[in-house]
Amino acid sequence: MKLHLNEKEYYKLQEFLFFYSDEYPVMASRFLEQKFSSQEIDATVDVVLQILDMLDLLPKDKNIYIGFLNYIKQYFTLDKDILEVGCGFLPSLARHIDKEQRLLHKGTITCYDNNLILDQFSNICLKKENFTLETTGNYDYVIGLAPCEATETIIRWANQHNKEFSIALCGCTHFSKNMLLSGWIPTSESWTNYVYNIASSTKETGSEIILDYPDKKYDFPGAVITKKRK
Ligand SMILES: C[S@@+](CC[C@H](N)C(=O)[O-])C[C@H]1O[C@@H](n2cnc3c(N)ncnc32)[C@H](O)[C@@H]1O
Repeated sequence: MKLHLNEKEYYKLQEFLFFYSDEYPVMASRFLEQKFSSQEIDATVDVVLQILDMLDLLPKDKNIYIGFLNYIKQYFTLDKDILEVGCGFLPSLARHIDKEQRLLHKGTITCYDNNLILDQFSNICLKKENFTLETTGNYDYVIGLAPCEATETIIRWANQHNKEFSIALCGCTHFSKNMLLSGWIPTSESWTNYVYNIASSTKETGSEIILDYPDKKYDFPGAVITKKRK
């Protein structure tokens, strides 16, 4: 998606960079400076989208964070204790969840990502660390929007703990080196089949795995895989 920002919007963006660009790793900070070097913005990459969302510069009907939130609401309610894995540098999806939870006066949202550049944000519980199979915590369900390498860990963790989940796959593949050496072909399709099989073969009885390709307008990078109790 291409965006044209007006003067006021572009000023907001430059102000954000002025205050926060040093918090990003050098490569990411250079990338942002280049992406935000004019009022014509290429709004496709997550690191760019997170900032545009945080500054309320993304059109609502094309905002992938709102799109995924609406998707999740088909299966789950937000008045729960929710775990988000791989939120990114800024907790964009969690920000929208938190807004709704405040209206509901119920529910919590916790985010894990080693890339987080904030240590406090609203009511969101931020964990600047990697999520692993050893991570503890009592959550009602787990979500991930393009959580990349964490995808398999989320599925295995959720199945070990009998938790429901919904993950929008990132569109890339994250096979281990050994799997690639043993002949796995790294295509988006083979990765989707792989995670679907892991989810199905390790899930508890009485639950189902749903594979879906949601509304194209939000530019979801891949399929969405959800575990729901029947
Ligand atoms: C493609 S980005 C998506 C970020 C965000 N969800 C978005 O859509 O804007 C993937 C994120 O997953 C994070 N990630 C990968 N493995 C992780 C793990 N084990 N625990 C927590 N975060 C992880 C990365 O640090 C990165 O920020």
